[in-house]
Amino acid sequence: MTVIELRRMLDPDERELRARVFRLLHHAFLIIGVGVAIEDTARQQPFPQEAMTWITALVALFFFGEWLARLATAPTPRHYLFSFNGLIDLAAAWCVPGALIAGVAPGQASVAGMVWSLKLIRHVSGFSIVGRVLKNELGTLLSVLLVFAMAMLLASTAVYLAESAGQPNTFGSLPAALWWCVVTLTTTGYGDAVPVTVVGRVIAGMVMILGIAILAMLAGILASGFAAEIRRRDFLNNWEMVAGVPLFRAQGAAVIAEVARRLRPKRLAAGAVLMRKGDPGDCMYFIVEGEVEVAIEPEPVRLGVGAFLGEMALITGAPRVATVTTRLPTQFLILDIADFRELAGRHPEMITAIEAEAARRRGK
Ligand code: CMP
Repeated sequence: MTVIELRRMLDPDERELRARVFRLLHHAFLIIGVGVAIEDTARQQPFPQEAMTWITALVALFFFGEWLARLATAPTPRHYLFSFNGLIDLAAAWCVPGALIAGVAPGQASVAGMVWSLKLIRHVSGFSIVGRVLKNELGTLLSVLLVFAMAMLLASTAVYLAESAGQPNTFGSLPAALWWCVVTLTTTGYGDAVPVTVVGRVIAGMVMILGIAILAMLAGILASGFAAEIRRRDFLNNWEMVAGVPLFRAQGAAVIAEVARRLRPKRLAAGAVLMRKGDPGDCMYFIVEGEVEVAIEPEPVRLGVGAFLGEMALITGAPRVATVTTRLPTQFLILDIADFRELAGRHPEMITAIEAEAARRRGK
Protein backbone atom coordinates (compact mmCIF):
# COMPACT_ATOMS: atom_id res chain seq x y z
CA MET A 1 0.00 0.00 0.00
CA THR A 2 1.38 3.44 -0.94
CA VAL A 3 1.57 6.35 1.49
CA ILE A 4 -1.25 8.13 -0.34
CA GLU A 5 -3.48 5.03 -0.17
CA LEU A 6 -2.74 4.66 3.54
CA ARG A 7 -3.54 8.33 4.15
CA ARG A 8 -6.83 7.93 2.30
CA MET A 9 -7.68 4.86 4.35
CA LEU A 10 -7.19 6.88 7.54
CA ASP A 11 -9.22 9.86 6.28
CA PRO A 12 -12.49 9.99 8.30
CA ASP A 13 -14.37 11.51 5.32
CA GLU A 14 -13.14 9.03 2.71
CA ARG A 15 -15.87 6.83 1.21
CA GLU A 16 -13.80 4.08 -0.43
CA LEU A 17 -14.21 0.52 0.88
CA ARG A 18 -10.81 0.27 2.59
CA ALA A 19 -11.47 3.45 4.59
CA ARG A 20 -14.94 2.21 5.60
CA VAL A 21 -13.55 -1.14 6.74
CA PHE A 22 -10.84 0.65 8.72
CA ARG A 23 -13.43 2.88 10.40
CA LEU A 24 -15.55 -0.16 11.25
CA LEU A 25 -12.55 -1.88 12.84
CA HIS A 26 -11.57 1.34 14.63
CA HIS A 27 -15.01 1.78 16.18
CA ALA A 28 -15.25 -1.92 17.07
CA PHE A 29 -11.85 -1.80 18.83
CA LEU A 30 -12.87 1.39 20.58
CA ILE A 31 -16.12 -0.07 21.92
CA ILE A 32 -14.42 -3.31 22.98
CA GLY A 33 -11.48 -1.45 24.61
CA VAL A 34 -13.72 0.92 26.57
CA GLY A 35 -16.05 -1.96 27.46
CA VAL A 36 -13.14 -3.96 28.87
CA ALA A 37 -11.91 -0.90 30.81
CA ILE A 38 -15.36 -0.57 32.43
CA GLU A 39 -15.71 -4.30 33.03
CA ASP A 40 -12.20 -4.63 34.52
CA THR A 41 -13.19 -2.53 37.53
CA ALA A 42 -16.25 -4.67 38.34
CA ARG A 43 -15.93 -6.91 41.36
CA GLN A 44 -17.63 -9.90 39.74
CA GLN A 45 -16.19 -10.45 36.28
CA PRO A 46 -17.97 -12.75 33.84
CA PHE A 47 -14.79 -13.21 31.72
CA PRO A 48 -11.35 -14.51 32.81
CA GLN A 49 -8.88 -11.74 33.70
CA GLU A 50 -6.25 -13.12 31.33
CA ALA A 51 -8.58 -12.81 28.33
CA MET A 52 -9.39 -9.21 29.32
CA THR A 53 -5.68 -8.36 29.51
CA TRP A 54 -5.07 -9.82 26.06
CA ILE A 55 -7.99 -7.90 24.57
CA THR A 56 -6.71 -4.65 26.12
CA ALA A 57 -3.24 -5.36 24.71
CA LEU A 58 -4.70 -5.97 21.23
CA VAL A 59 -6.74 -2.75 21.30
CA ALA A 60 -3.74 -0.78 22.61
CA LEU A 61 -1.61 -2.23 19.79
CA PHE A 62 -4.21 -1.23 17.19
CA PHE A 63 -4.34 2.39 18.40
CA PHE A 64 -0.57 2.54 18.69
CA GLY A 65 -0.29 1.30 15.10
CA GLU A 66 -2.88 3.85 13.95
CA TRP A 67 -0.93 6.68 15.60
CA LEU A 68 2.32 5.54 13.90
CA ALA A 69 0.54 5.27 10.53
CA ARG A 70 -0.97 8.76 10.88
CA LEU A 71 2.41 10.16 11.89
CA ALA A 72 4.15 8.48 8.96
CA THR A 73 1.58 9.61 6.38
CA ALA A 74 0.92 13.16 7.65
CA PRO A 75 2.08 15.82 5.13
CA THR A 76 3.79 17.66 8.04
CA PRO A 77 4.31 15.20 10.93
CA ARG A 78 5.23 17.98 13.38
CA HIS A 79 1.98 19.77 12.67
CA TYR A 80 0.00 16.54 13.12
CA LEU A 81 1.83 15.69 16.34
CA PHE A 82 0.75 18.94 18.02
CA SER A 83 -2.71 19.23 16.44
CA PHE A 84 -5.84 18.60 18.55
CA ASN A 85 -6.52 15.18 16.99
CA GLY A 86 -2.79 14.38 16.97
CA LEU A 87 -2.59 14.92 20.74
CA ILE A 88 -5.66 12.71 21.27
CA ASP A 89 -4.09 9.98 19.08
CA LEU A 90 -0.85 10.34 21.05
CA ALA A 91 -2.71 9.95 24.36
CA ALA A 92 -4.69 6.99 22.96
CA ALA A 93 -1.52 5.30 21.70
CA TRP A 94 0.40 5.71 24.93
CA CYS A 95 -2.26 5.56 27.70
CA VAL A 96 -2.08 1.81 28.34
CA PRO A 97 1.65 1.30 27.54
CA GLY A 98 2.36 4.42 29.67
CA ALA A 99 0.39 3.00 32.61
CA LEU A 100 2.31 -0.30 32.33
CA ILE A 101 5.67 1.52 32.14
CA ALA A 102 4.63 3.54 35.22
CA GLY A 103 4.23 0.23 37.08
CA VAL A 104 0.43 -0.16 37.10
CA ALA A 105 -0.61 -3.83 37.20
CA PRO A 106 -1.82 -5.18 33.79
CA GLY A 107 -5.29 -5.89 35.23
CA GLN A 108 -5.68 -2.22 36.20
CA ALA A 109 -3.88 -0.58 33.27
CA SER A 110 -6.96 -1.15 31.11
CA VAL A 111 -8.75 1.68 32.98
CA ALA A 112 -6.33 4.09 31.24
CA GLY A 113 -7.99 2.89 28.03
CA MET A 114 -10.97 5.17 28.82
CA VAL A 115 -8.86 7.79 26.96
CA TRP A 116 -9.73 5.87 23.76
CA SER A 117 -13.27 7.25 23.92
CA LEU A 118 -11.81 10.67 22.95
CA LYS A 119 -10.92 9.25 19.56
CA LEU A 120 -14.57 9.51 18.53
CA ILE A 121 -14.19 13.31 18.30
CA ARG A 122 -12.51 12.99 14.89
CA HIS A 123 -15.41 10.95 13.54
CA VAL A 124 -18.29 13.15 14.72
CA SER A 125 -18.56 16.20 12.50
CA GLY A 126 -20.87 17.89 15.04
CA PHE A 127 -17.96 18.37 17.44
CA SER A 128 -16.44 21.08 15.28
CA ILE A 129 -19.78 22.91 15.50
CA VAL A 130 -19.67 22.66 19.32
CA GLY A 131 -16.21 24.26 19.28
CA ARG A 132 -17.30 27.07 16.94
CA VAL A 133 -20.48 27.77 18.94
CA LEU A 134 -18.49 28.04 22.17
CA LYS A 135 -16.03 30.37 20.44
CA ASN A 136 -18.77 32.54 18.91
CA GLU A 137 -20.78 32.78 22.13
CA LEU A 138 -17.80 33.04 24.50
CA GLY A 139 -18.50 36.66 25.51
CA THR A 140 -22.18 36.07 26.28
CA LEU A 141 -21.50 32.78 28.06
CA LEU A 142 -18.81 34.41 30.18
CA SER A 143 -21.14 37.20 31.28
CA VAL A 144 -23.78 34.66 32.39
CA LEU A 145 -21.13 32.64 34.20
CA LEU A 146 -19.96 35.84 35.87
CA VAL A 147 -23.52 36.46 37.13
CA PHE A 148 -23.52 32.85 38.32
CA ALA A 149 -20.23 33.36 40.21
CA MET A 150 -21.39 36.64 41.80
CA ALA A 151 -24.74 35.17 42.86
CA MET A 152 -22.93 32.19 44.31
CA LEU A 153 -20.47 34.26 46.35
CA LEU A 154 -23.13 36.64 47.71
CA ALA A 155 -25.70 33.92 48.47
CA SER A 156 -23.18 31.62 50.14
CA THR A 157 -21.95 34.47 52.35
CA ALA A 158 -25.52 35.33 53.33
CA VAL A 159 -26.46 31.72 54.08
CA TYR A 160 -23.20 31.26 56.02
CA LEU A 161 -24.09 34.26 58.22
CA ALA A 162 -27.65 32.99 58.72
CA GLU A 163 -26.92 29.28 59.32
CA SER A 164 -23.37 28.85 60.68
CA ALA A 165 -24.38 29.39 64.32
CA GLY A 166 -27.18 26.79 64.25
CA GLN A 167 -25.51 24.25 61.92
CA PRO A 168 -21.73 24.52 62.39
CA ASN A 169 -21.13 21.13 60.76
CA THR A 170 -22.82 21.88 57.43
CA PHE A 171 -22.63 25.72 57.15
CA GLY A 172 -19.66 26.31 59.48
CA SER A 173 -17.35 27.77 56.83
CA LEU A 174 -17.61 29.70 53.57
CA PRO A 175 -16.34 26.76 51.48
CA ALA A 176 -19.10 24.59 53.02
CA ALA A 177 -21.69 27.29 52.24
CA LEU A 178 -20.26 27.61 48.70
CA TRP A 179 -20.72 23.85 48.19
CA TRP A 180 -24.37 24.15 49.30
CA CYS A 181 -24.79 27.10 46.92
CA VAL A 182 -23.38 25.24 43.88
CA VAL A 183 -25.62 22.25 44.63
CA THR A 184 -28.67 24.52 44.94
CA LEU A 185 -27.91 26.95 42.06
CA THR A 186 -27.47 24.08 39.61
CA THR A 187 -30.82 22.67 40.87
CA THR A 188 -29.05 19.44 41.91
CA GLY A 189 -30.09 19.57 45.58
CA TYR A 190 -28.38 16.62 47.28
CA GLY A 191 -30.14 17.50 50.51
CA ASP A 192 -26.92 17.04 52.54
CA ALA A 193 -27.19 20.65 53.78
CA VAL A 194 -30.57 22.32 54.39
CA PRO A 195 -31.06 25.85 55.79
CA VAL A 196 -33.39 25.89 58.78
CA THR A 197 -33.60 29.60 59.73
CA VAL A 198 -36.20 31.84 58.07
CA VAL A 199 -33.50 34.05 56.53
CA GLY A 200 -31.61 30.96 55.32
CA ARG A 201 -34.76 29.58 53.67
CA VAL A 202 -35.59 32.88 51.98
CA ILE A 203 -32.05 32.97 50.56
CA ALA A 204 -32.37 29.31 49.49
CA GLY A 205 -35.64 30.10 47.65
CA MET A 206 -34.03 33.00 45.79
CA VAL A 207 -30.97 30.88 44.90
CA MET A 208 -33.20 28.10 43.50
CA ILE A 209 -35.15 30.51 41.28
CA LEU A 210 -31.95 32.22 40.17
CA GLY A 211 -30.45 28.80 39.34
CA ILE A 212 -33.33 27.99 36.99
CA ALA A 213 -33.09 31.43 35.36
CA ILE A 214 -29.33 31.11 34.80
CA LEU A 215 -29.63 27.58 33.36
CA ALA A 216 -32.43 28.75 31.06
CA MET A 217 -30.25 31.65 29.88
CA LEU A 218 -27.30 29.32 29.18
CA ALA A 219 -29.56 26.88 27.30
CA GLY A 220 -31.03 29.75 25.24
CA ILE A 221 -27.62 31.16 24.31
CA LEU A 222 -26.29 27.74 23.28
CA ALA A 223 -29.47 26.80 21.35
CA SER A 224 -29.50 30.03 19.32
CA GLY A 225 -25.72 29.72 18.78
CA PHE A 226 -26.18 26.18 17.42
CA ALA A 227 -29.05 27.22 15.17
CA ALA A 228 -27.01 30.12 13.73
CA GLU A 229 -23.95 27.92 13.18
CA ILE A 230 -25.96 25.16 11.47
CA ARG A 231 -27.63 27.77 9.22
CA ARG A 232 -24.20 29.16 8.32
CA ARG A 233 -22.82 25.68 7.55
CA ASP A 234 -25.85 24.73 5.43
CA PHE A 235 -25.62 28.03 3.60
CA LEU A 236 -21.94 27.43 2.74
CA ASN A 237 -22.61 23.82 1.63
CA ASN A 238 -25.64 24.91 -0.40
CA TRP A 239 -23.69 27.79 -1.92
CA GLU A 240 -21.14 25.40 -3.42
CA MET A 241 -23.84 23.09 -4.76
CA VAL A 242 -25.99 25.93 -6.12
CA ALA A 243 -23.00 27.50 -7.87
CA GLY A 244 -22.47 24.13 -9.62
CA VAL A 245 -25.92 24.30 -11.32
CA PRO A 246 -25.53 26.14 -14.66
CA LEU A 247 -28.96 27.79 -14.41
CA PHE A 248 -27.98 29.53 -11.16
CA ARG A 249 -24.35 30.12 -12.10
CA ALA A 250 -25.51 32.17 -15.05
CA GLN A 251 -27.45 34.50 -12.70
CA GLY A 252 -24.49 35.71 -10.62
CA ALA A 253 -23.45 35.77 -6.95
CA ALA A 254 -26.45 37.70 -5.54
CA VAL A 255 -28.95 35.19 -6.96
CA ILE A 256 -26.82 32.22 -5.87
CA ALA A 257 -26.79 33.58 -2.30
CA GLU A 258 -30.55 34.09 -2.34
CA VAL A 259 -31.24 30.65 -3.78
CA ALA A 260 -28.72 28.94 -1.41
CA ARG A 261 -30.74 30.22 1.55
CA ARG A 262 -33.93 28.64 0.19
CA LEU A 263 -32.76 25.25 -1.07
CA ARG A 264 -32.45 22.18 1.10
CA PRO A 265 -30.29 19.20 0.24
CA LYS A 266 -31.54 15.62 -0.15
CA ARG A 267 -29.51 12.51 -0.89
CA LEU A 268 -30.90 9.28 -2.32
CA ALA A 269 -29.25 5.91 -2.91
CA ALA A 270 -29.17 4.36 -6.39
CA GLY A 271 -32.49 2.81 -7.46
CA ALA A 272 -34.67 4.97 -5.18
CA VAL A 273 -37.94 6.44 -6.46
CA LEU A 274 -37.83 10.24 -6.28
CA MET A 275 -41.38 10.82 -7.50
CA ARG A 276 -44.21 8.78 -9.02
CA LYS A 277 -46.40 9.64 -12.01
CA GLY A 278 -49.68 11.13 -10.78
CA ASP A 279 -48.30 12.37 -7.43
CA PRO A 280 -49.09 16.00 -6.57
CA GLY A 281 -45.98 18.19 -6.98
CA ASP A 282 -45.01 20.76 -4.35
CA CYS A 283 -41.30 21.14 -5.12
CA MET A 284 -38.70 20.87 -7.87
CA TYR A 285 -35.23 19.33 -7.78
CA PHE A 286 -31.77 20.24 -9.03
CA ILE A 287 -29.18 17.48 -9.48
CA VAL A 288 -25.76 18.31 -8.06
CA GLU A 289 -24.33 14.78 -8.19
CA GLY A 290 -25.45 11.49 -9.71
CA GLU A 291 -28.07 10.66 -12.34
CA VAL A 292 -31.82 9.98 -12.58
CA GLU A 293 -34.07 8.28 -15.12
CA VAL A 294 -37.39 9.82 -16.14
CA ALA A 295 -39.79 7.04 -17.21
CA ILE A 296 -41.48 8.56 -20.28
CA GLU A 297 -42.67 7.02 -23.53
CA PRO A 298 -41.31 5.88 -25.91
CA GLU A 299 -37.79 6.08 -24.41
CA PRO A 300 -36.82 6.90 -20.80
CA VAL A 301 -34.69 10.02 -20.47
CA ARG A 302 -31.63 10.35 -18.23
CA LEU A 303 -30.83 13.59 -16.45
CA GLY A 304 -27.42 14.24 -14.87
CA VAL A 305 -25.47 16.85 -12.92
CA GLY A 306 -26.75 20.41 -13.40
CA ALA A 307 -30.20 19.34 -14.70
CA PHE A 308 -33.48 20.13 -12.97
CA LEU A 309 -36.76 18.22 -12.78
CA GLY A 310 -40.19 18.35 -11.20
CA GLU A 311 -40.72 21.85 -12.61
CA MET A 312 -43.77 20.94 -14.72
CA ALA A 313 -46.05 20.28 -11.75
CA LEU A 314 -45.06 23.67 -10.27
CA ILE A 315 -45.72 25.53 -13.52
CA THR A 316 -48.98 23.83 -14.53
CA GLY A 317 -50.33 22.78 -11.13
CA ALA A 318 -51.00 19.32 -12.67
CA PRO A 319 -49.76 16.05 -11.10
CA ARG A 320 -46.28 14.67 -11.92
CA VAL A 321 -46.16 13.51 -15.55
CA ALA A 322 -43.58 10.74 -15.00
CA THR A 323 -41.99 8.47 -12.42
CA VAL A 324 -38.36 9.39 -11.70
CA THR A 325 -35.80 6.94 -10.23
CA THR A 326 -32.16 7.47 -9.32
CA ARG A 327 -29.64 5.48 -11.40
CA LEU A 328 -26.67 6.39 -9.17
CA PRO A 329 -26.40 7.71 -5.59
CA THR A 330 -27.77 11.19 -6.23
CA GLN A 331 -27.56 14.51 -4.41
CA PHE A 332 -30.46 16.90 -5.01
CA LEU A 333 -31.28 20.44 -4.00
CA ILE A 334 -34.99 20.97 -3.34
CA LEU A 335 -36.84 24.19 -4.13
CA ASP A 336 -40.29 24.32 -2.48
CA ILE A 337 -43.29 25.72 -4.36
CA ALA A 338 -43.56 28.82 -2.13
CA ASP A 339 -39.91 29.69 -2.76
CA PHE A 340 -40.36 28.92 -6.48
CA ARG A 341 -43.18 31.50 -6.65
CA GLU A 342 -41.20 34.07 -4.70
CA LEU A 343 -38.14 33.60 -6.90
CA ALA A 344 -40.39 33.89 -9.96
CA GLY A 345 -41.40 37.36 -8.75
CA ARG A 346 -37.85 38.51 -7.99
CA HIS A 347 -35.95 36.85 -10.85
CA PRO A 348 -38.39 36.33 -13.74
CA GLU A 349 -35.51 35.62 -16.16
CA MET A 350 -34.55 32.52 -14.19
CA ILE A 351 -38.08 31.16 -14.12
CA THR A 352 -38.45 31.96 -17.85
CA ALA A 353 -35.45 29.69 -18.51
CA ILE A 354 -37.08 26.90 -16.43
CA GLU A 355 -40.39 27.37 -18.26
CA ALA A 356 -38.66 27.28 -21.65
CA GLU A 357 -37.04 23.94 -20.76
CA ALA A 358 -40.40 22.59 -19.49
CA ALA A 359 -42.05 23.61 -22.80
CA ARG A 360 -39.24 21.92 -24.75
CA ARG A 361 -39.71 18.72 -22.72
CA ARG A 362 -43.48 18.76 -23.21
CA GLY A 363 -43.02 19.17 -26.95
CA LYS A 364 -40.72 16.15 -27.21
P1 CMP B 1 -43.10 16.90 -13.15
O1 CMP B 1 -44.23 16.61 -14.06
O2 CMP B 1 -43.32 17.86 -12.05
O3 CMP B 1 -42.55 15.51 -12.57
C1 CMP B 1 -41.94 14.60 -13.47
C2 CMP B 1 -40.79 15.29 -14.13
O4 CMP B 1 -40.10 14.57 -15.13
C3 CMP B 1 -41.28 16.51 -14.88
O5 CMP B 1 -41.84 17.43 -14.01
C4 CMP B 1 -40.05 16.90 -15.62
O6 CMP B 1 -39.18 17.61 -14.80
C5 CMP B 1 -39.45 15.55 -15.96
N1 CMP B 1 -39.69 15.26 -17.38
C6 CMP B 1 -40.88 15.02 -17.97
N2 CMP B 1 -40.70 14.83 -19.30
C7 CMP B 1 -39.39 14.97 -19.53
C8 CMP B 1 -38.56 14.90 -20.72
N3 CMP B 1 -39.08 14.67 -21.93
N4 CMP B 1 -37.25 15.13 -20.57
C9 CMP B 1 -36.70 15.36 -19.38
N5 CMP B 1 -37.44 15.44 -18.25
C10 CMP B 1 -38.74 15.25 -18.32
